[in-house]
Amino acid sequence: DWNMPDYVSEAIAKVREQVGKDEVILGLSGGVDSSVVAALLHQAIGDQLTCVFVDNGLLRLNEAEQVMQTFARNLGVKVIHVDAADQFMGHLKGVSDPEQKRKIIGREFVEVFQAEAKKLPKAKWLAQGTIYPDVIESAGAKTKKANTIKSHHNVGGLPETLHLKLLEPLRELFKDEVRELGVALGLPHDMVYRHPFPGPGLGVRILGEVKKEYADLLRRADAIFIEELRNNRDADGRSWYDKTSQAFAVFLPVKSVGVMGDGRTYEYVVALRAVQTQDFMTAHWAELPHALLATVSNRIINEVRGLNRVVYDISGKPPATIEWE
Ligand code: XMP
Repeated sequence: DWNMPDYVSEAIAKVREQVGKDEVILGLSGGVDSSVVAALLHQAIGDQLTCVFVDNGLLRLNEAEQVMQTFARNLGVKVIHVDAADQFMGHLKGVSDPEQKRKIIGREFVEVFQAEAKKLPKAKWLAQGTIYPDVIESAGAKTKKANTIKSHHNVGGLPETLHLKLLEPLRELFKDEVRELGVALGLPHDMVYRHPFPGPGLGVRILGEVKKEYADLLRRADAIFIEELRNNRDADGRSWYDKTSQAFAVFLPVKSVGVMGDGRTYEYVVALRAVQTQDFMTAHWAELPHALLATVSNRIINEVRGLNRVVYDISGKPPATIEWE
């Protein structure tokens, strides 16, 4: 029972009061939470905010360009774009264990972010897109035992090493409230209503060892899948993107035989995953229309040389997790 325009001006006033004339750093990922923090802080304190956007080489197709377009060019936010793809890829070379990969990606993120933060010695605050469910979850993790199924890496661990004060303007909000705030702050609808994307990115969607060649194939297959989900509507008028909670392609580093024209092909496989869920703790695989799956499969195989087979994941959570690693 709250009024959004009032909430926006209160949130802006609160940030101004907290921060004063200090400078603030924010790790901008392009996800909903950090994007809304960036938009809010930009309105509140303008150029006192510097965002750091780290391209780890594991982002989706054109993702870095889109983030720079939305924030740097359209909104005029100060964003440092760090292209660290080679550094991440270098450290991931030869590593195929999922937990090991997650640890490396998390550690490199901290390295890169820290190096950028050192270049901004006047910064006093580290802003984070922590939302209310994160606050509850980490309180639970301290008392119980941290979720040991998968180690999650976002920006955890940064503040202690950086000696910055924490600024968490979304701490009291639920996800739907964060989205409403994003819309009120003028962020594009498609950005505010995006599916979640894991911190380790395509690193956990390329099974086993991560290679740039695999990431490039996966990005193109994934973009086709998402484009078709956005462009196809169900009888109720909603797009299949909006009707699913999360959808993506997964790269399988196995080759299978196919036929193309007069020739035989021997190429890689991608799996499509689309789920519906309330809380991401349990999830059902989405019953996408067969015609939609057929279009996606034909497009991927025709448009992405190097892939000749597409399969659909029909595993629920539990027992399967949403991500494959
Ligand atoms: P699983 O695969 O455990 O995923 O069923 C549940 C949700 O969490 C997301 N996920 C992550 N998000 N950092 C994140 O920010 C991570 O390391 C990470 N691992 C999984 C996953 O995409 C799904 O939405």
